Amino acid sequence: MPKDLIAGNWKMHTSHLDAIQMIQKLSYRLEASDHSRVDVVVCPPFTALRSAQTVIETDHLLIKLGAQDVHWEEEGAYTGAVAAPMLQKLSVDYVIVGHSERRQLFGETDDDVNRKLKAVLRHEMTPILCVGETLEEREQGISKDRVGSQIRLGLQGFESGAVAKVVVAYEPIWAIGTGKTADADVAGDMATFIRSALAEQWDTAAEEVPILYGGSVKPGNIAGFMAKRDVNGALVGGAALDPDSFASIVRYWM
Ligand code: PGA
Repeated sequence: MPKDLIAGNWKMHTSHLDAIQMIQKLSYRLEASDHSRVDVVVCPPFTALRSAQTVIETDHLLIKLGAQDVHWEEEGAYTGAVAAPMLQKLSVDYVIVGHSERRQLFGETDDDVNRKLKAVLRHEMTPILCVGETLEEREQGISKDRVGSQIRLGLQGFESGAVAKVVVAYEPIWAIGTGKTADADVAGDMATFIRSALAEQWDTAAEEVPILYGGSVKPGNIAGFMAKRDVNGALVGGAALDPDSFASIVRYWM
């Protein structure tokens, strides 16, 4: 069974100064025992990563650092982009790849996602591969086709050893930032589908992949998702911006 993982995606919020305060506040609300049960990850914007790294290292915090995106090249003429070696140097542990906002607003394709996943793994960080269907796809009854193809294309050419190092987040697009959550049964069913899709191609590696649910996760609904056999954690947007709410989500069993 993979260890539980709760990651906060801060999106385009917070200056580096806000980030320091938020990480400190979060750390006061968590205990060592929380960290032994759950990997707690914060993903601030790029501009706050250095400050976040410094506060985590100086205060010896057990909170882990994540980035929200990466470019697939090692370096080069890619104005505005950030490369995996730069993130690795900042002690980044996790990188979100293929978030639906990147796919929808920035035109990211499954092929881009595949290259980004490889870049993250090359630099010994853990990618959080986001997949999920639109409302239209759900209504047409093709959610599983969509998610299955995002998994297949995103992980194309991967060996089992590499797949075992990936985290998958199921984030139905209609539930992101809308206040509408997927029913825990729907999330659990999709997580089971994702695990079996992984097992079909990569056999036992599938058992090692943490599968997260994301989309309007809050302190009041997290327990329902975590009760599902194949859900190992959550990717949290809005509620991660409030250290109290985020800490309550991490400590959902209390
Ligand atoms: P939300 O965002 O929790 O605000 O719905 C989740 C996400 O986009 O990862």
